[in-house]
Amino acid sequence: MKRIIALLCIVTLTLGLTACAGKAQPQAEESNASSSQEEASSVAEPESSVAEEASSEEPQESSSEAEEPEETPVADKVLVVVFSATGTTKGVADKIAALTGADLYEIKAAQEYTDADLNWNDSSSRSTQEQNDPDARPEIGSDPISLEGYGTIYIGFPIWWGEEPRIMDTFVESYDFNGITMIPFCTSSSSGIGRSGQNLAEHAGSGNWLDGQRFSGGVSEEELQDWINSLQ
Ligand SMILES: Cc1cc2nc3c(=O)[nH]c(=O)nc-3n(C[C@H](O)[C@H](O)[C@H](O)COP(=O)(O)O)c2cc1C
Repeated sequence: MKRIIALLCIVTLTLGLTACAGKAQPQAEESNASSSQEEASSVAEPESSVAEEASSEEPQESSSEAEEPEETPVADKVLVVVFSATGTTKGVADKIAALTGADLYEIKAAQEYTDADLNWNDSSSRSTQEQNDPDARPEIGSDPISLEGYGTIYIGFPIWWGEEPRIMDTFVESYDFNGITMIPFCTSSSSGIGRSGQNLAEHAGSGNWLDGQRFSGGVSEEELQDWINSLQ
């Protein structure tokens, strides 16, 4: 009897140990699996960190690329610049500005021209003396203007003794017109624009100067619009 009980104990013990051994194996496999996963993820890490680096760099590159156009905005604004001693050329300038949607900048002499100054029958009048001196540069009294953003400038003046008034030379020598299309126009009693446009281009030394156009003070908006269209 004792032998039978001892045998049963051995059998029970053996079965119990076998069951424990069977359970322990998957645990070992699991821990192996998790350690191999860790290995796999640590191998993949450089890739993911490269990807992270790339993804962290890419937006910076693309955002700086996207910002580039903002750094160099297109200069597409239009400006009308005018000097007018008695208002005739200013009237034409106003019409051009209205037709083109342009801003207007008026050149005012620091020392305003009086009627006596403008008397071309007087050889000693201020205007006659200035026009007889190619180096005369009358001072401008109006505040300077920033030309940033302007791609086209209509530049108007009266004809004095067949040319642009010397104050126009003062103006064009004071600015950089690089990259700007310059379009001269003038009014007169009867004279054409002559060499005025070329004179201004030479004195400016910058800008893309188109041929100028002379108008009478009473020029119609239709005539001005036709001229503007012909420049396109
Ligand atoms: C000093 C002076 C010289 C002028 N010389 C000429 C000229 O050579 N030829 C011409 O046709 N008109 C001449 N004019 C007339 C003006 O060009 C014309 O009246 C012009 O439309 C005036 O423009 P504003 O009112 O904008 O100053 C002269 C006017 C002045 C005051």
